[in-house]
Amino acid sequence: MKKQIILLPGDGIGREIIHSAKVVLNAIASEYNHEFTFHQHAIGGDAIDNYGVPLPEDTVKACHNADAVLLGAVGGPKWDQVPANIRPEKGLLGIRKELGLFANLRPVKGFKSLLHASPLKQEIIEGSDILIIRELTGGLYFGQPSERRNNGNSVVDTLSYTREEMERIIDKGFQSARIRKKHLTSVDKANVLESSRLWREVVEEKAKDYPDVTVEHLLVDAAAMKLITNPSQFDVIVTENLFGDILSDEASVLTGSLGMLPSASIRTDGVGLYEPVHGSAPDIAGKGIANPLGMILSAALMLRHSFGLDEEASDIEKAVNECLEQGYHTADLRIAGGTQVGTEEMTNLVLENLTTKS
Ligand code: NAI
Ligand code: MG
Repeated sequence: MKKQIILLPGDGIGREIIHSAKVVLNAIASEYNHEFTFHQHAIGGDAIDNYGVPLPEDTVKACHNADAVLLGAVGGPKWDQVPANIRPEKGLLGIRKELGLFANLRPVKGFKSLLHASPLKQEIIEGSDILIIRELTGGLYFGQPSERRNNGNSVVDTLSYTREEMERIIDKGFQSARIRKKHLTSVDKANVLESSRLWREVVEEKAKDYPDVTVEHLLVDAAAMKLITNPSQFDVIVTENLFGDILSDEASVLTGSLGMLPSASIRTDGVGLYEPVHGSAPDIAGKGIANPLGMILSAALMLRHSFGLDEEASDIEKAVNECLEQGYHTADLRIAGGTQVGTEEMTNLVLENLTTKS
């Protein structure tokens, strides 16, 4: 299979971990006789420094023409003072919007060997396997107006959705639940927000098309609490953009570290974008200690969702699991014992386990 992949390293540890995904994909390509070609483009702070804008035209064009996009992370204190309209995050939000990637899938499944890495009790997290589906191109992140008023002394952000935008993401929630444990939790704030009341109506309407899926509505504050007190009650969670952002960082606690979580940003058909859930981690950037596994697992999601290469994706996930079983971990995973390794060593260990698979 021939595929063209765009690499957008971005900033901070994004630049360190993107390489890990590339070498792992190259190993898969040679094992299975695929031909993956990679082209690197600028986004975020990196693009601001080099081109004066967080999302150059050239980057957008390349992504449109590619089979899939892998992104590291963007942002950092270096760009804190740049005007709001050219902040690094605008690059990330912009490419998601440009590519129409309305569904962000964030699987949260703990590896057995990392049960001790979570600050939560083992009996609480055991058996949890959640897919968080975050709406990605609307909601509070994009609603207009979003601006300062009265000489900067008052401010407005807007949570806006059309019924169609709600329908397609909620459909994705039901479809995903259908091929998993057939349970969908819709998270909203319907006791306060009008947008959430329409969201609930749409969920109820859609539920009629999926009689095999059980549906539950949860308010976002209760969902935040239940996610860490009874995570195994969840199967698929579908929710608004900002709610999904917050809940998925929270859910990462189940897996031991934010550095473990991959994500897939997709649309009904067309190019998909794959990136770890974490940010550019300026506090550890440049030290060679970033956990590359969220990035590597994102590459596995790319193989599965964009290219239909399920076996290859599973190989990567198994190799990651093997490394952890062998006791290797990066500094962000607080595990007593085992062997602590850096980004490059961890990547090499994944490669070794890929090639020695039975
Ligand atoms: P962050 O996710 O970058 O870091 C949070 C904490 O987790 C830090 O202590 C960091 O060291 C640690 N961490 C994250 N990923 C790790 C990894 N792979 N290995 C080891 N440790 C890891 O979030 P933070 O600090 O709030 O934001 C830093 C910058 O990243 C900001 O500019 C923010 O806007 C941006 N950001 C970008 C995102 C993206 O590109 N998708 C997402 C979230 C934040
Ligand atoms: Mg986030």
